Amino acid sequence: MILTSYEQAMLDGAQGRAAQKAMQILVALGTIYGAERMLPVSSVQVAGVSYDNLGEAGLQFLDEMADGGGRACVLTTLNPAGMDIENWQALGISPEFARQQERVIAAFARMGVMTTCTCTPYLVGNLPHFGEHIAWAESSAVCFANAVLGARTNREGGPSALAACLTGVTPDYGLHLDANRQPDLAVGVEASLLENDAFGALGKDIGEKLRTAGCRVPYITGIERTSLENLKSFCASLATYGGLALFHMPGITPESASVRQPQIGITITQPDLDAAHRSMVDAGNEEVDFVSLGCPHLTIGEIARIAGLLEGKQVTKEFWITTARPTKQIADRLGYTAIIEAAGAKFAADTCCVVAPIKNRFRAMATDSAKACYYAYAKNGFKTVLMPFDQVVEEALR
Ligand code: F3S
Repeated sequence: MILTSYEQAMLDGAQGRAAQKAMQILVALGTIYGAERMLPVSSVQVAGVSYDNLGEAGLQFLDEMADGGGRACVLTTLNPAGMDIENWQALGISPEFARQQERVIAAFARMGVMTTCTCTPYLVGNLPHFGEHIAWAESSAVCFANAVLGARTNREGGPSALAACLTGVTPDYGLHLDANRQPDLAVGVEASLLENDAFGALGKDIGEKLRTAGCRVPYITGIERTSLENLKSFCASLATYGGLALFHMPGITPESASVRQPQIGITITQPDLDAAHRSMVDAGNEEVDFVSLGCPHLTIGEIARIAGLLEGKQVTKEFWITTARPTKQIADRLGYTAIIEAAGAKFAADTCCVVAPIKNRFRAMATDSAKACYYAYAKNGFKTVLMPFDQVVEEALR
């Protein structure tokens, strides 16, 4: 790789041990992927924040980087942590876990990282614009940034995202390059899509089909209308089931007009969508004992909708409402938090039903998120029931 004199000096240790280690990580990555140079980035999002995933070795790495003088050069936020940082007791998190999670957050804070823990950084001020090069790690947010915002990022791992944060650069390969942003399979959708759960089912079906076909970037037609919430749900599902980080949708995503529509294609029909949806309704004989909305983290509009559905009622099941701390603060000021908590539901800000340490605590979970269905089962052992947003709230009241 050809480095600038500033990048070479970092690699030689002129900016301290942490920056040197960070450059070593990025140069190794760039060499593996054939990058010729580094690119400046303007925004970073670091994953691997929950102590449940990081463990002691991960925490030690963060402490070493902070002790070695690591300092954020660019706007950097975090993925969800393993607990609500202010209200972990209400979620049944143990004091031992909380202590370790607090050490993780403190290490990031020492490096000047904004300790806003969310998978929807674009809702709370970490919002790159079209064409901007960034280094994000959370898969649903990476897909949203590339496809919906038209920013450019590979799916970074925790260490490479932190390295970009501490150096301000990332290797120039993958989705930073025009050639890799061209679609390679046309996907026509002939099915009705109303809510997040349907967009999640669509993401599962398209993701699995592209994975089987060995394709990476779908060009999706037949969808005339989506909301912000639908798109974040769709991105999370595509990334989970297909490992995809970019799609184009004419009239909806910004690069769709400037790419070439592929000749080869597939069609997704209503029976395909229904089958994908049914595959995530899998509680068997188990009664739902856990309800969660907010994968990816909820918008303030979705929180308002929950408050409207819960007002004056009482939930009968453990119900987590997961969102970014700044979004919850808006909900506090608008009175939604008071309504939701009076109904017995719980805010789980900074965290989610997947990264919190709740393995085997519940038997079956109701959600509107296809991604949550996948990971709540794979990581935490819960059976899942995918259903539309309002029905999820009704399930909590049943
Ligand atoms: Fe976000 Fe957790 Fe879902 S990190 S995308 S809410 S699994």
